[in-house]
Amino acid sequence: MSELPAAVTIYEVGPRDGLQNEKTLVPTGVKAEFVQRLRLAGLPIVEATSFVHPKWVPQLADAAELMELLGEAGRDCPVLVPNERGLDRALELGAQHIAIFGSATETFAQKNLNRSLDEQFAMFEPTVRRARDAGLDVRAYVSMCFGDPWEGAVPVEQVVSVGKRLFDLGASQLSLGDTIGVGTAGQVTDLVDAFTAAGMDTDQLAMHFHDTYGQALANTLSALQSGITTFDASAGGLGGCPYAKSATGNLATEDLVWMLTGLGIEHGVDLREVVATSVWMAGHLGRPSPSAVVRALAESGA
Ligand code: HMG
Ligand code: MG
Repeated sequence: MSELPAAVTIYEVGPRDGLQNEKTLVPTGVKAEFVQRLRLAGLPIVEATSFVHPKWVPQLADAAELMELLGEAGRDCPVLVPNERGLDRALELGAQHIAIFGSATETFAQKNLNRSLDEQFAMFEPTVRRARDAGLDVRAYVSMCFGDPWEGAVPVEQVVSVGKRLFDLGASQLSLGDTIGVGTAGQVTDLVDAFTAAGMDTDQLAMHFHDTYGQALANTLSALQSGITTFDASAGGLGGCPYAKSATGNLATEDLVWMLTGLGIEHGVDLREVVATSVWMAGHLGRPSPSAVVRALAESGA
């Protein structure tokens, strides 16, 4: 497998994508410790929380308190921001990295953002412009890149059109989300090819897989073969989206790290520390981690 990249960046989303979907409300102090432990385990980027409407995602309503607890270190952690109100809140706390999140489909734009597919751009445009003027780095997510629970398969051209439009607002990276985890390896190759044919470089793209159908690692390998070097993952496989019923856990950070290590790809993450963190967090959530690697290593006492 000599054509694979030598190193990848893991973009950790557990504290945000993971905890946004948990029934249990995790105390802010525990969230802060979660972020800190993940950073100490060598994860270079840890997305901390969301400045969305607190009624839409009550699990992350304590975003301001969390950022205050994290202090200076929190400024390096990206936060989700959907609109100018969210940006104002993030700026007040000194955030340096924000992420906007668009939808490739009409129905999910309505359900997740209360906007039509077209209206979402009117919401993001001034948000990104003001963030860039203030010197912030902006990541853009596009959701439902492979399938949508209401609309079924999503045409590749539609994903590329929405993704490019979001990126061109002024983002430094576009994360392609398989929000409900239905994609398969060949589709990943096709989507990356379509984005590169549309003029994007593979180092401007990240992949965001969910493991609903057990395809996340196969899809990751496919993306590695296409030259992708940034992968979103969630410690312990926590996660989902409260506005997409069939979105279950994200690709577990531990599963990703295990595969990358086996392939000889550098990632800089201490697997044992991430497993210990996920086991600790599972205790707070009252249920075991769905990650196969966490289970195997925790059971073996390693
Ligand atoms: P809306 O109700 O249309 O908002 O929600 P609005 O603009 O009409 O404003 C209504 C009121 O809300 C106003 O207050 C605003 O100030 C307030 P009023 O004047 O009536 O007193 N408001 C806010 N307050 C606090 N923070 C804010 C904010 N914005 C407005 N940011 C909105 C529109 C986008 C806000 C709402 O739909 C929302 O919060 N959606 C977020 C949903 C969400 O977080 N989903 C999960 C993340 S996406 C995901 O997980 C997928 C991803 O992981 C990738 C993948 O897996 O594919 C990224
Ligand atoms: Mg997600």
